[in-house]
Amino acid sequence: MHPEVDRKHRGPAPLRQSDGFWPERHDANARHERHDTSALRAWAQSEWVKAWIQTYRNVRAETERRAASLSPEDQVVQSMPDASPIKWHRAHTTWFFEQFVLVPHAPSYRGYDPRFAFLFNSYYVAAGPRHARPKRGLVTRPDAAEVTRYRAHVDEAVAHLLADAAPDVFDRVIALVETGLNHEQQHQELMLTDILHAFSENPTAPAYDPDWRWPRCAAPRSEWCELPEGIHTVGHQAHGFCFDNETPAHRALVGPVRLARNLVTNGEWLAFMRDGGYARPELWLSDGWATVAAEAWTAPGHWREIDGRWHGFTLGGLSPIDEELPVGHVSYYEADAFARWAGRHLPSEAEWEVAARAGELEDAFGVVWQWTRSAYCPYPGYRPAAGALGEYNGKFMVNQMVLRGSSIATSPSHARVSYRNFFYPAARWQFTGLRLADFPT
Ligand SMILES: [Fe+2]
Repeated sequence: MHPEVDRKHRGPAPLRQSDGFWPERHDANARHERHDTSALRAWAQSEWVKAWIQTYRNVRAETERRAASLSPEDQVVQSMPDASPIKWHRAHTTWFFEQFVLVPHAPSYRGYDPRFAFLFNSYYVAAGPRHARPKRGLVTRPDAAEVTRYRAHVDEAVAHLLADAAPDVFDRVIALVETGLNHEQQHQELMLTDILHAFSENPTAPAYDPDWRWPRCAAPRSEWCELPEGIHTVGHQAHGFCFDNETPAHRALVGPVRLARNLVTNGEWLAFMRDGGYARPELWLSDGWATVAAEAWTAPGHWREIDGRWHGFTLGGLSPIDEELPVGHVSYYEADAFARWAGRHLPSEAEWEVAARAGELEDAFGVVWQWTRSAYCPYPGYRPAAGALGEYNGKFMVNQMVLRGSSIATSPSHARVSYRNFFYPAARWQFTGLRLADFPT
C-alpha cells in the first residue's frame, strides 16, 4: 500500500511544518549560547548535523520509494511537454544539490558527469544552457541504473560536506540543502502526477499501485463558514522553511465572505455535466471556452465513459466514479465555470488562508489542491533571492493562478497554510479540485 493512501497524515490543518520531520530550526548563535561549555557546544552542533544528514537521507529515500515500482521503461516516458520522465525527476533533483550546494561549497567535489548539467538543468538560465523540456523523453541514456549511481555519488558528497563543515559554513550550506529538499518534495508530487498521465495514455490502463484509493471527504459540519470583514495578516509567519513567494507576510482586507467548508464532490460535478456545463458558453471565461473546444473536454481529466458509466483513471487503475469523493483533475477554467453554474465564485487566496488558519475548512490539506481566483503575483514587498536561485519562483509570476492546501500526492511535511502553489489555468493533470465561496447572506 502506498503510504500516502491512508489518511493518517490528515487531521488538523498543518499551519506549520510537521513536527519531528525537519530538524528544529534555530539561529546559530542562539543554539550555541544555550550551551556554556565548548564540549556541550560541540555536542549540540554534532547532533544538529546528524539530524540534518538523516533528514536529507529521508527525503532522498522517499523519491526512490516512489520510483521503486516503476520499470526502466516506465521511467523514460514523457507523455506531454508539461510532464517529465521519472528518471529525469530523479536526476534533476540530484543536479540541484550538485549545482547549488556541492559546486560552490565543496572544493574537492568531483562532478559525476559534466554532461549532466545540460541534461538535468530545468529552467535556471543563470546556471547555463539546458536541454529542451519537451524532449526529455528522448534521453534514453543515462539509463535508470546510471541515475541511481548519480544519486548515490551526490548523496555521499553532500553527507561528507555536512559532516565536515565548520559551524558557520554548515549554517550557510544547510539553508541551500533545505531548499533542495523542499524542491525535491515538489518533484516527488510531480512524479506521481506525471506517471499517472503517462499511464493514462496506455490502453492497458496500468496501475501505479493497485491498492491506491482516492481519499474520502470529511462529513459536512455545516455548509459555510462566515468571514466578517476584517484586516488579517497573511503569508509566512511561522518558524521554519518557506519559499520566497510566501513572503513577506502582510496585511490584507478580507471579507465579508463565506467559504464552503467542504470540497466540491464528483456527485456535484456530475450534476454540472448533466446540466450541460461543458456545452454552455455563458458559463465559461473566453479562454476557457476556447480550451474546451480545442481539447474537446466533456468531463474532468482522466475521466472516461465506459458502458454508459463514468470511470476515473487513478494511480490504482480505472475505477467507477464515486459521487461522494472530491472531484479532482479539473483546470482553473473548469473550476471557474462550475462556480458560475452554482451561482458562487472561487475564494481568493487570502480568504482561503484566513479560513484555514481558523480551522474552518474541511480537507484543506492532503486531498486536492484548491483553485483560488487569485492570480499568481508577488506579495507587496516581495524580492526574489539574488543569483540563480532567484529564478525559483519570481520569474513565473504572470499568467498563472494560485492553488492552496495540498494534495494526496504532497509529502505531508511539505504542506503549510501559507503555501502558494501555481499552475496555468488550463492545467489539470495535478490533483486539483475546488471549494466554493459566496457573498454572505
Ligand atoms: Fe525543479
